[in-house]
Amino acid sequence: MRFHALPTACLALLFGSLSQAQPLSNNSAAPPVGTAAAKAPTRITCPSGQGVGLIAARGSTEDAGPGRVLAPIVANATLQVPGTTLASVDYPARLVPDYLGSEMEGVTALTALMRSFTAACPGAPMVLMGYSQGAQVVADVISNASAPADNPAQPLSMNNIAGILLIGDPSRVDGKPFNAGTANGDGLFSRKDSTALEAMGDRILSICNDGDPVCDRGINIAVHLSYDETNGAEATQFVVSKAMKAMKAMAAKAAAAAASPPETIGKRATAWTA
Ligand SMILES: *[C@@H]1O[C@H](CO)[C@@H](O)[C@H](O)[C@H]1NC(C)=O
Ligand SMILES: *[C@@H]1O[C@H](CO)[C@@H](O)[C@H](O)[C@H]1NC(C)=O
Ligand SMILES: *[C@@H]1O[C@H](CO)[C@@H](O)[C@H](O)[C@H]1NC(C)=O
Repeated sequence: MRFHALPTACLALLFGSLSQAQPLSNNSAAPPVGTAAAKAPTRITCPSGQGVGLIAARGSTEDAGPGRVLAPIVANATLQVPGTTLASVDYPARLVPDYLGSEMEGVTALTALMRSFTAACPGAPMVLMGYSQGAQVVADVISNASAPADNPAQPLSMNNIAGILLIGDPSRVDGKPFNAGTANGDGLFSRKDSTALEAMGDRILSICNDGDPVCDRGINIAVHLSYDETNGAEATQFVVSKAMKAMKAMAAKAAAAAASPPETIGKRATAWTA
């Protein structure tokens, strides 16, 4: 039992609620917290050209879609990498009650979305992005990919994941090589086993700043709520560079396939990750 985590957790819950009551962006036209977003079948639009498929998991209490913090990163990356598409994880992103229930719904939804993307867009790269609760969702899916809860016998493909952007991750563990930002503590729900994340470490950027009560052991909720301002450029640059790298690798595979014997011509490369 880590009792020292409790006051911080309460603080995060309190301020998380306050932050919803006073949104930093004008979303007064959006449905109130707790209202189920209209259920539409998740449409997968495959990326084209140099683009990647961005998959965004928003943070607690953010409105449906990519969320306030990830939205500008999505927008800027899309401007720099034409052909990029977006799919948002359809999950409650609930803070209270039952954060963990909401988070597990996110794990289920993201797993399904990744399977749909891989089936609909063979060979296309995706970049997973998660903020706050959404970052924990992404990291949990990656961590359990070899035996995902929806189908333990069918591992999730990691080959088409070009990058993984985690911002303000509650499951953050200090000292990992893929960590960025100024934090030097663990998150509220720090991960016990990071083996799977470490195996993909060169594709991950996990941003957390000193004082963040969610991903660090801080008391300054403003740090948690302002990553779009403090680290947006760094996050966008990460997404863009991973997209470019993936496309280069795909182009090289395609060139190799074109130069190979006739029976393999026309087959689309699906495992291109360098
Ligand atoms: C926020 O949006 C609402 C509804 O569109 C509008 O009435 C209000 O003036 C806006 N507030 C600000 C501060 O922009
Ligand atoms: C991981 O996968 C196993 C097997 O499907 C499942 O029982 C377990 O609940 C999963 N754990 C998490 C944290 O999702
Ligand atoms: C997006 O780009 C605009 C224009 O260059 C910039 O002002 C803004 O800070 C960027 N936002 C993020 C999150 O990178």
